[in-house]
Amino acid sequence: MVRFITALLAVSASLSTVWATTTCSVDSPCPEDSPCCSAYGECGVGAYCLGGCYPLASYSIDSCTPAPVCVNKTYTWDNLDKAASNEVYLGNATEYDWVYSGTPLLDNGNLLLTMPNNSVGTLFSNNHYVWYGRISAKLKTSRGAGVVTAFILMSDVKDEIDLEFVGVDLYHGQTNYYFEGILDYDNEINATVSSNTFENFHEYTIDWTPDAITWYVDGTAARTLNRSATFNATSNRYQFPQTPSRVEMSLWPAGLSTEAEGTIEWAGGLVNWSSTDMEEHGYYYATFGEITVECYNPPSGANIQGDKSYVYTSDSAVTNNTVEITDRNTTLNNFDDTGLNMTAGTTAGASATASSGDSVPTSNGAGTVPGSSDSGSGTDSSSSSTTGFVQGGTTTDKSGATSQNTRIRQGSLFAVVVAVVALVVI
Ligand SMILES: *[C@@H]1O[C@H](CO)[C@@H](O)[C@H](O)[C@H]1NC(C)=O
Ligand SMILES: *[C@@H]1O[C@H](CO)[C@@H](O)[C@H](O)[C@H]1NC(C)=O
Ligand SMILES: *[C@@H]1O[C@H](CO)[C@@H](O)[C@H](O)[C@H]1NC(C)=O
Ligand SMILES: *[C@@H]1O[C@H](CO)[C@@H](O)[C@H](O)[C@H]1NC(C)=O
Ligand SMILES: *[C@@H]1O[C@H](CO)[C@@H](O)[C@H](O)[C@H]1NC(C)=O
Ligand SMILES: *[C@@H]1O[C@H](CO)[C@@H](O)[C@H](O)[C@H]1NC(C)=O
Ligand SMILES: *[C@@H]1O[C@H](CO)[C@@H](O)[C@H](O)[C@H]1NC(C)=O
Ligand SMILES: *[C@@H]1O[C@H](CO)[C@@H](O)[C@H](O)[C@H]1NC(C)=O
Ligand SMILES: *[C@@H]1O[C@H](CO)[C@@H](O)[C@H](O)[C@H]1NC(C)=O
Ligand SMILES: *[C@@H]1O[C@H](CO)[C@@H](O)[C@H](O)[C@H]1NC(C)=O
Repeated sequence: MVRFITALLAVSASLSTVWATTTCSVDSPCPEDSPCCSAYGECGVGAYCLGGCYPLASYSIDSCTPAPVCVNKTYTWDNLDKAASNEVYLGNATEYDWVYSGTPLLDNGNLLLTMPNNSVGTLFSNNHYVWYGRISAKLKTSRGAGVVTAFILMSDVKDEIDLEFVGVDLYHGQTNYYFEGILDYDNEINATVSSNTFENFHEYTIDWTPDAITWYVDGTAARTLNRSATFNATSNRYQFPQTPSRVEMSLWPAGLSTEAEGTIEWAGGLVNWSSTDMEEHGYYYATFGEITVECYNPPSGANIQGDKSYVYTSDSAVTNNTVEITDRNTTLNNFDDTGLNMTAGTTAGASATASSGDSVPTSNGAGTVPGSSDSGSGTDSSSSSTTGFVQGGTTTDKSGATSQNTRIRQGSLFAVVVAVVALVVI
């Protein structure tokens, strides 16, 4: 994922004037009126302040909303009632376990993440952060050059634990990790899978403790990374993932001409938008079965002041030692709110209008409010999502139309980036 996000950062920076957004980085944090720095490096309010909001590049440490704590749970896919589009989700993880962008579908009790023609695929994130735990997924990957299936843990300060599958190698998963977003591509190790990852379900597990990360394939340990092996003597710290992280599954195109050459090469070349899967279904797809999250108890020495949410207590160092477990709420009243005042706006569902350019990352300012009647409700999404796999081809138009619409919606930052990428590609 870091490769993808890095590419998106570059794209959004280069087009920021076109879209009238403010970009953000640690050296250039967001202004007070659009205080939240999204995972893609743009300032905003509402959804920008939820999962992925980067505290170090935001206006202040309290700009991002508190992150819901870990929940022990097994997820299955009879419906998508507990999944909300990022145009709908306001931070209530009790109401919605998952938030997504793109086009998830259901197929016989499985979750399909799809990547329609010329799209940037689907990202499906759990809303309950994990601060150490054991996460398992049964999945079948996608396939084809440039097509990447990912099952990862990602923190808001860019600690990342990866298992990624490039569609040109259906017999390996790539294990990898990043510490605080530092780009270092030398930590990748391949894990062998016993049979074709596209044809067969396999169970992949990430076991994450304060001392080690172990990746398993079908119950057999494929790699262990000890924290002790990540010590950086220069900076005198362990470069080991150590902050609350979300489980994220995604299907994304690394093989786009807009990506860095190294990324395209890594992914086995450019995506073929006329492949057999595209022609037959109208999209590339990865199939997810049961997902299980087991939360480990907070590490000894953790700063425990409550049991609802994780926050960071320092904006100079974001490590395991600056995480606090609090009773602070996680839900915004509406898409104009931020972590600085989560209840400034009227309660969700009531009508409201976009108040400033910074809150609407669009070219024309004609933003509509997510959750209002014209922007598509969660119910719409889940009902439409139950259709499609066998009649796949018909979803192509629909998805195209959706991404066009979402471009003008507030809070839909991924969709905006999608649209921006599409713009560049076209
Ligand atoms: C979150 O959703 C749950 C379940 O839908 C509901 O009971 C609760 O009141 C909601 N919390 C907030 C803060 O809206
Ligand atoms: C892992 O597998 C990929 C694709 O088969 C290959 O390109 C890469 O070099 C391998 N990485 C390592 C570290 O062996
Ligand atoms: C990790 O540490 C354990 C002891 O804590 C050791 O037995 C094991 O060999 C180490 N693994 C690696 C890959 O270094
Ligand atoms: C170790 O830390 C130093 C100083 O922060 C940094 O320059 C270097 O890149 C780090 N090494 C790795 C492998 O990340
Ligand atoms: C794309 O896939 C189709 C169907 O398999 C094939 O005929 C075509 O040659 C491929 N295009 C490229 C550029 O590989
Ligand atoms: C995808 O779009 C391209 C044009 O951008 C077109 O050439 C190709 O046939 C389309 N593929 C499918 C499966 O419709
Ligand atoms: C999750 O379950 C484990 C036992 O499987 C238990 O030790 C842990 O306290 C539970 N955590 C939460 C947050 O419920
Ligand atoms: C944070 O990690 C350090 C080792 O890097 C460890 O000594 C300390 O106990 C950890 N603190 C918490 C709260 O996990
Ligand atoms: C959380 O929100 C509820 C109402 O939804 C409120 O009663 C409670 O005081 C809030 N808790 C905190 C710590 O702000
Ligand atoms: C949040 O905004 C509301 C409405 O403007 C105001 O009444 C409330 O005092 C504010 N809360 C905080 C903590 O600033």
